[in-house]
Amino acid sequence: MEEYRPLRVALLGAGSVGSQVARLLIENKAELAARVGAELELVGIAVRDINSPRNAGVPRELLTTDAEPLILGADIVVEVMGGIEPARTYILQALNSGSDVVTANKALLASHGTELFDAAEQVGAQLYFEAAVAGAIPIIRPLRESLAGDKVNRIMGIVNGTTNYILDRMDTTGASFESALAEATALGYAEADPTADIEAFDAAQKAAILAYLAFHTEVPLDKVYREGITKITAQQMAAAQRDGYVIKLLAICERVPADENGESGVSVRVHPALIEREHPLAAVHGAFNAVFVEAESAGQLMFYGAGAGGVQTASAVLGDLVSAAKRHVAGGPGLADSVHANLPILPIDRAYTRYQITLEVTDQPGVLAKVANIFADHQVSIETVEQAVREKDGSMRPTAYLEVGTHEATEASLRAVVESLAESDSVASITSVIRVEGI
Ligand code: NAP
Ligand code: HSE
Repeated sequence: MEEYRPLRVALLGAGSVGSQVARLLIENKAELAARVGAELELVGIAVRDINSPRNAGVPRELLTTDAEPLILGADIVVEVMGGIEPARTYILQALNSGSDVVTANKALLASHGTELFDAAEQVGAQLYFEAAVAGAIPIIRPLRESLAGDKVNRIMGIVNGTTNYILDRMDTTGASFESALAEATALGYAEADPTADIEAFDAAQKAAILAYLAFHTEVPLDKVYREGITKITAQQMAAAQRDGYVIKLLAICERVPADENGESGVSVRVHPALIEREHPLAAVHGAFNAVFVEAESAGQLMFYGAGAGGVQTASAVLGDLVSAAKRHVAGGPGLADSVHANLPILPIDRAYTRYQITLEVTDQPGVLAKVANIFADHQVSIETVEQAVREKDGSMRPTAYLEVGTHEATEASLRAVVESLAESDSVASITSVIRVEGI
């Protein structure tokens, strides 16, 4: 085959991911050219400060702070600088000039994805983003291509490595949230400001992207329900362990069947949840990620691996780069995503799952019946009840600890139960309310 002209690649960013992309592009130049049928020529690397210390493998002569001419002269632009601006403007410039773009920027895709996809479609350019969700794990391409003929019903993922590391340490060592976070920071998993991870903003962005692909529906970030892991206690973790569960931060994207008004749609939520220790996601330890997909014909699939890391994420970026380059060589249109299904994104009240509620009650006749009645009043069916009686410090009255497991119920019903329990004279305190997933 006659070799195509060299393809000009502009790299925006030379940090953890970008420096590895540059190194791999240069070190593997001949092999990549053979695979693509054209040389991938790294023509420049835009950074904020050309004098900053860089990883070995980043050629200093390619560094520039002037991104625009680099973008306009490229065939393919790789954006690994992160943030919203100027990344958004640069990607739009690249797409509008007909270049394909590879990005790892989940924050930008989750907040401005529609604008970027529309721009790409208008000029017939392509936007690739395998690295934006779960780092090295191939999950975007399976959803976009391999499962394009199937119907995805549910995705349940551990898509944030930092929080999985923290929860795993709490589970395996009995550590408190604070000390597990300190460990994650010392190891470089958590950033100096860990908010994006521990408050689940990062996982919510990834959930929005996964749901968009799975359900062919635009998913605005503000419709993704989000709860972080900061309130998870060592006591909750120990109780979960005793009951055969583990607590994980899960990103859940699922179809919700019609309610009594005939309204169906999808629910996208990120929160800590109990899952049974036998569930494949329970075996995801440390900072690893995994995405569990349930599709109508394919059944259950699990994708597992490194969700972050410079070189691991660079692997996904390079995969996209090769796809983009092959399209240049072969010509013709690339992948086009669609939001044709346009399903309603339902509020968290419509989520339908199981719950475990732990209560402190006075150990007196009739208390259990009163508690059971509160659940019944709101049509929430109890599946299990466990009771332990302990003398409360300094109190003459014994206190009973009730752990109530429910059958599936809507979040709205469960909230009504919790509100009624909080108002009940029989309930001294509600010590834990947590969803149970992974049936
Ligand atoms: P990083 O280490 O902070 O590197 C960012 C790079 O972009 C730096 O080289 C920086 O230049 C450059 N940059 C930032 N703002 C710029 C601007 N205004 N103009 C020109 N250059 C600018 O980030 P990263 O960890 O590599 O992450 C890059 C992207 O990949 C992000 O979207 C992130 O969400 C995504 N991602 C990262 C990982 C991971 O494990 N790190 C995993 C998955 C996805 P200077 O070097 O001069 O400061
Ligand atoms: N902070 C993210 C994590 C990095 O912990 O998974 C990749 O998005």
